Amino acid sequence: MAEEAGPSELEAQLTSMLDGPLLVVTTFNGRERAGCVVGFATQCSIAPGRFAIWLSKANHTYRVGIHADRFAVHFLTEHDHDVADLFGTNTGDEVDKFSRCEWEADVDGVPLLPACPNRFRGRRTALLDDGSDHVCVILEPLEVSSSGPFKPLRHSDVTDLEAGHPAEERPTPTQRAPRG
Ligand SMILES: Cc1cc2nc3c(=O)[nH]c(=O)nc-3n(C[C@H](O)[C@H](O)[C@H](O)COP(=O)(O)O)c2cc1C
Repeated sequence: MAEEAGPSELEAQLTSMLDGPLLVVTTFNGRERAGCVVGFATQCSIAPGRFAIWLSKANHTYRVGIHADRFAVHFLTEHDHDVADLFGTNTGDEVDKFSRCEWEADVDGVPLLPACPNRFRGRRTALLDDGSDHVCVILEPLEVSSSGPFKPLRHSDVTDLEAGHPAEERPTPTQRAPRG
């Protein structure tokens, strides 16, 4: 018999069992580069091909990404714990992550990580904000590359990592209000 629990507790229990794969999403808005670990992500259309990622409103990557239309999505492998550590526990509000790893700019200036060759470059087709603490960015893959089959890095592989910006750190409307 199923255990009883409140909706949010039950949801947390169920979703933790999914143990989803982890990505690093990078972007460039013409002025600033950004990138962070993303667990909320999924393919969401076959024809045309679409892939959705969710960015936390607390993150530097979100603030850069809302002004960007090009992104790169890097699929992490079981060997990429160090990449997840760099991009998931540090915030671009405080450190330049790209000074701490190898990267190269694609044709649009978006950082590509040579350490993560399983990736695609994508164009933003929509941004959906339902008022929750993440926004959904829908991407049309433009160019896909892969070094072959790999075992994904999953949530259960990074239980030692603490997010650089917990989702509850997002600025409130009061904090965003103009002064004076
Ligand atoms: C396992 C794990 C999963 C995460 N999933 C997401 C996610 O789906 N979306 C997101 O925006 N941030 C997610 N984060 C949090 C960011 O990667 C983290 O707060 C990062 O430091 C933000 O960097 P930034 O402020 O430079 O964007 C996750 C972090 C970890 C460790």
